[in-house]
Amino acid sequence: MSNYNTDYQNSIKNPNAFWLEQAQQIEWFTSPPQGLTQNELGLYRWFEGGKLNTCHLALDYHVANGRAEQLAVIYDSPVTNTIRKITYRELRDEVALFAGVLKGLGIEKGDRVVIYMPMILQTVVAMLACARIGAVHSVVFGGFAARELAIRIDDARPKLILAASGGIEVSKKIHYKPIIDAAIEQAEHQPENVIVYQRPEMEANMQKGRDLDWEELMVDAEMTDCVPVDATDPLYILYTSGTTGKPKGIVRDNGGHAVAMKYSMKAVYGVNSGDVYWAASDVGWVVGHSYIVYAPLIHGCTTILFEGKPIKTPDAGTFWRVIAEHKVKTLFTAPTAIRAIKKEDSGGELLKKYDISSLQYLFLAGERCDVATYNWAKDLLGVPVIDHWWQTESGWAMLANMAGYPLHETKPGSATKPVCGYDVRILRSDNTEAEPNEEGSVVIKLPLPPSCLPTLWEDDIRFIESYLMPFEDYYFSGDGGYKDKDGYVFITGRMDDVINVAGHRLSTADMEEVVASHSAVAECAVTGIADELRGQVPVGFVVLKQGVAISEDELQAELVQMVRKEVGAVACFKQVAIAERLPKTRSGKILRKIMRYIADGKAYQMPSTIENPDVLEEVVEVMKRREIGVFRGLS
Ligand code: COA
Ligand code: AMP
Repeated sequence: MSNYNTDYQNSIKNPNAFWLEQAQQIEWFTSPPQGLTQNELGLYRWFEGGKLNTCHLALDYHVANGRAEQLAVIYDSPVTNTIRKITYRELRDEVALFAGVLKGLGIEKGDRVVIYMPMILQTVVAMLACARIGAVHSVVFGGFAARELAIRIDDARPKLILAASGGIEVSKKIHYKPIIDAAIEQAEHQPENVIVYQRPEMEANMQKGRDLDWEELMVDAEMTDCVPVDATDPLYILYTSGTTGKPKGIVRDNGGHAVAMKYSMKAVYGVNSGDVYWAASDVGWVVGHSYIVYAPLIHGCTTILFEGKPIKTPDAGTFWRVIAEHKVKTLFTAPTAIRAIKKEDSGGELLKKYDISSLQYLFLAGERCDVATYNWAKDLLGVPVIDHWWQTESGWAMLANMAGYPLHETKPGSATKPVCGYDVRILRSDNTEAEPNEEGSVVIKLPLPPSCLPTLWEDDIRFIESYLMPFEDYYFSGDGGYKDKDGYVFITGRMDDVINVAGHRLSTADMEEVVASHSAVAECAVTGIADELRGQVPVGFVVLKQGVAISEDELQAELVQMVRKEVGAVACFKQVAIAERLPKTRSGKILRKIMRYIADGKAYQMPSTIENPDVLEEVVEVMKRREIGVFRGLS
C-alpha cells in the first residue's frame, strides 16, 4: 500500500484481480474460485463458490493464531458504572456456548433472528453466535418503537427474537420487553421464542412458554463449532429508511463483507492488528455492525463497546476519558457527537484532564460535517480529522482520505476522494457527467465492490427500481453532490425524503404516515430542516379536515406523542404547524424540498410545475408564526 492513485486505478480497471488479492488476507474453508459473477437478473455477486465463516474469522482464527489472551472487547458503560474486558478466548467460548443455545432451539443456517438489544456485551455475543451457525441476524436499533419493530419482524420473519430487559439512556431506563410484546402483537408473523437477557438494572416480565431466560439457557448449553457458509449467503439484514414508510432490508453477504472489512481497517483507517479501535456508534446502525463488531474483530483489534453519550454520561469529557483510559488509537463518531461536546465545552477544558496521546485519527461520518465542527475538532485534538462518506447500503466507506496511504491535503466540507473499488461519478438527470463543481446525483459505476448490498431482502425488484434504474449502469446513492477540479467530492445532502437526525437515518414518509393517521389531519408533509446540534430535525405541516377545531399546540402535543409511540423518540419530532394549503406540483406532489429550503433560508428556484406559487408566501407566514428554522425569533 504505497500509492493511492496506482491502487485506486487498479481497483477500478481490474476489480477481479484487486479483490481476489484482498480475499487472500482472510482464511477461507474453500478459497473463492472467482471474483465477480452475475445472476440471471444481471445482479453482481462476489466470491461465489468460496466457503467461510464470519465468526471464525472474528474469533476462532485469532484464538488459534496467537491472540487468545488479547482483549477482544472492552465494554465501557458510564451509565452503569461498569468496565468489563473480555479476551478473544473468553469471547469465543461465550459465543460458542450461545450458538449452542440457538442450535438447541432449532435455529439453523438461513433462519432469521431479530436482535433488539442495547449496547451490552451480550448483543455482540448474539450477533456472532448467529454468524457462527449461519443464521441471519437482523438487529433493530433500540430507539425504534413497537410499530417499527413489527414491520421488521414481518419482513424478516424471524424464528427467534433475542432481547435484553432494557436499555439505559443517560439515567432513564427504557424497558424493552413491553415494546417487544407490543411488536409481536402487532406483527402478522409470530416468532417461536424470545430469549431475554435480564439486566441487573431492570427485570422483564416473561410470557410462559414463549419467553426464555438467557442465563438459564446458558447453564446447560454446549459449545458449537462454526458452520461453513457460502460467500454469497447472507450474514445479516439491516433495515434502513427509504422514501416510503416501508424500510429497506439491506442484505450483507458473508464473503464480500469479510474481505472488505479486513481490507478497510488498514487501507481506510490506518489501523494495525492489536490496536485499540473505537466506533462510538450503536450496534443498531451499520457503523456499529461494521466497526464496533465485525471489522475490528476480523482485523484482530481490541474494540470498544461504549454504552453512553458524548455528553451527560457524566460530562462532555467522557470521550477523552475513554481514549485515555483504554489507549484508543482511532475514534470514529458522528459530527453530531462532536457538536454536542463543542456546545458543552467549547474551550476544551475537560480535555486537559486526560492524556489522549494514543489517538492518531478522528473519523467522522453518518451526516454532512460542517466546516466549523471539522475545524474545531482538528484544532482541539491536533490529529487528522477525516470526514468519510458511506451508507448502510455499502457497509463501509465510499469516499475517504484513506489513512493507509499518505494523507491527501484535506478540504473541509469534502469527504475527499473515492475509496479503492468505488468509481464515484456525478451525473446530471440525463445520464451525462457533470462538469467540475456542478451539482448532480452521486452515483457509482457498476460493479460495486465487495460488501455492498447484492440486493434487498427478498425484493430484487425494489432493489433494481430504487438503486439501478435511475441511472443505467450505475448505483444511485440517493445523495446529491459535486466534484471539484482536483477530484474531491462534496456531498451536499439527500435528494429524496430521507433525513439525518443526529446521524440517525430516518424517513419523513414514515412519520407522515403516522401524522396522517390523526383524525384531524386532511393532509400533511414532514420535512427535515437544518438544526445546529442534530444536523437535521423533522417538522410537520398539517392541513386540517374541514370543520375540525383544534389548537395548533394541542395538535402538536398529540402528534409528537404519536410519532414517539409509533416511530420512536429518536425521531426528535417536536414541531408542528397548521397551514391552509401546502405547495404542490400540478400532478399533486407536495414540494417538500422547497419548504425545507425556505425553513433553512436557502435560495431556491420556483419549479415550473408548481400549481400554486402564491402558497409559498403563506408557508413563510406559517413558519414565522411557529418560529420554524431561520424564522426562530423573527415572528
Ligand atoms: N433506545 C431508546 N431510546 C433512545 C435510544 C435508544 N437506543 N437512543 C436515543 N433514544 C431516545 C433518547 O432517550 C431521546 O429521548 P427523549 O426525547 O425522551 O429525551 C431521543 O431518543 C433522542 O435521542 P438523542 O438524539 O440521542 O438525544 P440526546 O439529547 O439524548 O443526545 C446527542 C443528543 C447529540 C448527544 C446524541 O444524539 C448523540 O450522541 N448523537 C450521535 C449519534 C451517533 O453517534 N450516531 C452514529 C451514527 S454513525
Ligand atoms: P446511513 O445509511 O444511516 O449510514 O446514512 C447514509 C446517509 O448519511 C448518506 O446517504 C448521506 O446522506 C449521509 N452521510 C453519511 N456520511 C456522510 C458524510 N461524510 N458526508 C455527508 N453525508 C453523509
